[in-house]
Amino acid sequence: MDRELSNKLSPILSRRSIRSYQDKEISNELIDALLHAGMAAPSACAKDPWRFIVIRDKAMLGTVCEKLPNGTMLARAALGVVVCGDLNAAHSNQLSYMLQDCSACIENILITAPLLGLGAVWLGIHPRQERIDHLRKVLSLPHAIIPVSAIAIGYPDEHKAPRSRYDEGYVHNEKW
Ligand SMILES: Cc1cc2nc3c(=O)[nH]c(=O)nc-3n(C[C@H](O)[C@H](O)[C@H](O)COP(=O)(O)O)c2cc1C
Repeated sequence: MDRELSNKLSPILSRRSIRSYQDKEISNELIDALLHAGMAAPSACAKDPWRFIVIRDKAMLGTVCEKLPNGTMLARAALGVVVCGDLNAAHSNQLSYMLQDCSACIENILITAPLLGLGAVWLGIHPRQERIDHLRKVLSLPHAIIPVSAIAIGYPDEHKAPRSRYDEGYVHNEKW
């Protein structure tokens, strides 16, 4: 890919997992922008089954990541967004549609973060049952609400170069 095309893809290539954050709050205006971006994602039949728990409280951030073995950076983030899915709202009440919709939403938030000067990382919850149970308990989630993933967000304290992990071996033309 030439430089001109690479520049055009900059918002995509600049999304990197940022796990180290400055001790600086994120304004409500930016949080609102992140959520607008998330809810601009495609969803099956536009059912929008995504639901959000926005967490700014440090103690709660620490509690949430107690059962996220690869998510301890959440305790040092300015903001956590737990993206949940409402199975009753999903297309055909299908778990798979709900997960796909929420994943598209999460990716939109991750791409938006660096556009706002922020850094973010996706923290897996679903399908690990012990993580789901923990989040369900500490966030008082209703039965039909399934925590899919958390996103740790803050002003970045590390820099990562834009990149793609493009592999032409993964690409098949016309047939496998
Ligand atoms: C479903 C899913 C779960 C993930 N869970 C975690 C996690 O628990 N902790 C973490 O640090 N990164 C997590 N990541 C981020 C990946 O490790 C990261 O995207 C990958 O290493 C590629 O690096 P990049 O995001 O900088 O391109 C997760 C990503 C996805 C898609």
